[in-house]
Formats: sequence, structure tokens, C-alpha cells
Amino acid sequence: MSIVSWFKGKGPSGFGYGSTAEEVSAGLDLSGRTFLVTGSTAGLGLETVRVLALRGARVLATGRTTEKVQGAFGEARDAVIPLACELAEPASVRACVSRVREMGVALDGIVCNAGIMALPRLETAHGYELQFFTNHIGHFILVTGLLEQLADRGRVVVLSSGAHASAPTKGIDFDNLSGQSGYSAIAAYGQSKLANLLFARALARRLEGSRRTANALHPGVIRTKLFRHMGPADLGLALVAPIALKTVAQGAATQVYVATHPSLADVSGEYFADCNLARSTAHGRDPALAEKLWEVSERIVAALPSS
Ligand SMILES: NC(=O)c1ccc[n+]([C@@H]2O[C@H](COP(=O)([O-])OP(=O)(O)OC[C@H]3O[C@@H](n4cnc5c(N)ncnc54)[C@H](OP(=O)(O)O)[C@@H]3O)[C@@H](O)[C@H]2O)c1
Repeated sequence: MSIVSWFKGKGPSGFGYGSTAEEVSAGLDLSGRTFLVTGSTAGLGLETVRVLALRGARVLATGRTTEKVQGAFGEARDAVIPLACELAEPASVRACVSRVREMGVALDGIVCNAGIMALPRLETAHGYELQFFTNHIGHFILVTGLLEQLADRGRVVVLSSGAHASAPTKGIDFDNLSGQSGYSAIAAYGQSKLANLLFARALARRLEGSRRTANALHPGVIRTKLFRHMGPADLGLALVAPIALKTVAQGAATQVYVATHPSLADVSGEYFADCNLARSTAHGRDPALAEKLWEVSERIVAALPSS
């Protein structure tokens, strides 16, 4: 047990900082359920797929290419079905949406897990800063495209981060979504993670009146390859990881908890950390900002090439 885990203990849910994905799903029978998990080829996504399948679920596991997912899980099996979904390429995301629709599956959960962080220099896709485009717009296209596939009681689970607090002062800098008027690696990542949080809140509003839910979460700090652009900061994390950071098994716990735990069947529009309800920044709770982001995202997606 890490020092932090011992210090923080458990929260009202009965789980906490040190809980693992296996622990929060212990005793659950997910047979007959289907989940889609993005970014399944590494880190928290890989562990999330493993544990959902361990509990009996069928998982549509997405990665940049089918081959990459097969590299992580082997050839298609009943439990884990590899799908290509390159989030920075709308044609790939739309092809993934079409494939899932053709399969005719009802999704009990969509876990928007894939992400990139703190790119040292400005990179863009289709004219937009790459973290915003990959982490938010890619998932926006995917989830809005799959809403008809979301089962009664289906859950959308969006990976945000405590780093949403590092977003620009105005929250989402709608006048600089290209990054061309100024770029900070950390602020751009923070903006993309704030966008993930606001997307879950705005989606939850749209799902009101149905039995489907949308929530966002911070998984904790886990030294995965997400930190590969962080240079000396990553080395610092390597040193403290054994005593101060979460393991991957602990890092995947909150998303598995939010995606599957029976106690959350009617909980929507919330933000979680350490397998418990958490409080986001004021921007993260701003419904007007969430609505504006939704509208801007719709306009961005409508203007993208259709193939
Ligand atoms: N680790 C942390 O401390 C931490 C903290 C807060 C929030 N988070 C969030 O947790 C989520 C998972 O992070 P992680 O730590 O597991 O990171 P990771 O180990 O780097 O894994 C990220 C996954 O996303 C995939 N991905 C990246 N860009 C993609 C794209 N354009 N299209 C499709 N897939 C793409 C990666 O595929 P490739 O292998 O092909 O690149 C990989 O499978 C992220 O959303 C991250 O922001 C993590």
C-alpha cells in the first residue's frame, strides 16, 4: 500500500484511492453486457478492458488500428473485439461508429479513455490543437454517433483529469482552438480535459428523462506512457511512483466503478475521483460553458470533411 493510499483511506462509496479495478467490480456478473473502451492498447484502457472481460463482459476495444489492438489482446475472441478508431481522424471515428452500428449491439457502457498529454510543441489536426481534437472532438464524434446504440441504462464514462484545473483562465479559449494565437502544453491539455468534463455534463443534460447516464472522472496520477512528453517531470514521477502514485490497477478503478457499479445506475452529470463523487473547478460545473462547448463542437464536426 502506498503512503497516499494509507493516508487517504476509503470514501462514502466504500472504495478509495487504493482500490483496484478488480476490487470495485468484485462479485459483479457482467455476462451479457457489452462495453466499448477507447485507447485500449495501453495504460488504464488496457486494464479496464481486462477487468471488464474478467467479469464476463464483451468489450469492443478500440485503438488507432485493429492491428494495434490485436497486438495488445490477440485475435478477436468472444470477449474482446478489436476495432480501429483513430480519434484524430474523423473518417476513422465515423468508420468505427458505422462498424458498431452494423454489429447491431446495444452498448451498456462507452468508456472514453484514450488521451494524449502535454505535447511539447503545437500540433494540429484539421486546424485544431491536437489534444483538444483527439481527447474531445474525437470522442464527441464517437459518442454522439453511437447514442442510438446506447442501451437502456447505458452509461457514458469520460476520462477527464484533475488537470482540468490547468485550463486557460476563461476555461475553454474558443478564440484559440487552433493554438495559433499562443500555445502552452499544460494549458492545452487542461483545456482538453475540461472539455471532456463539460462534454459529460452536457450529455447528461441531454440524457435526462431517459435511464442512460453520463459522468466524468479523474483516475488519479499513474505513471503511464501518457507522461512520455514530460521530460524531467516524468523522471521525478518514476522516483516517487512506488510510494506516492497509483498503480495502473488502482488507476483503472474509478472508470470501472463508474461504468459498472450498481449503486450508480441513476447517477448522471457528476465528476468522480478515487471511486467517489468529487468537486470539479467552477468552470467544470458551469452549465453555460458546457452548452457553448457542445454547440461549438457540433459546428466543428459539421464543417469537417465527411470522408
Ligand atoms: N495516467 C494519469 O496519471 C492520468 C491522470 C489523469 C487523467 N488521465 C487520463 O486517463 C486516460 C488514459 O491515460 P493513460 O494514462 O492510460 O495513457 P496511455 O498509457 O498513454 O494510454 C493512452 C491510450 O490512448 C490511445 N490514444 C492516444 N491517442 C489516440 C488517438 N489519436 N486515437 C486513438 N487512440 C489514441 C493510446 O494509443 P497509442 O498507444 O496508439 O498511442 C493508448 O491506448 C487519458 O484520457 C488521460 O488523459 C490519466
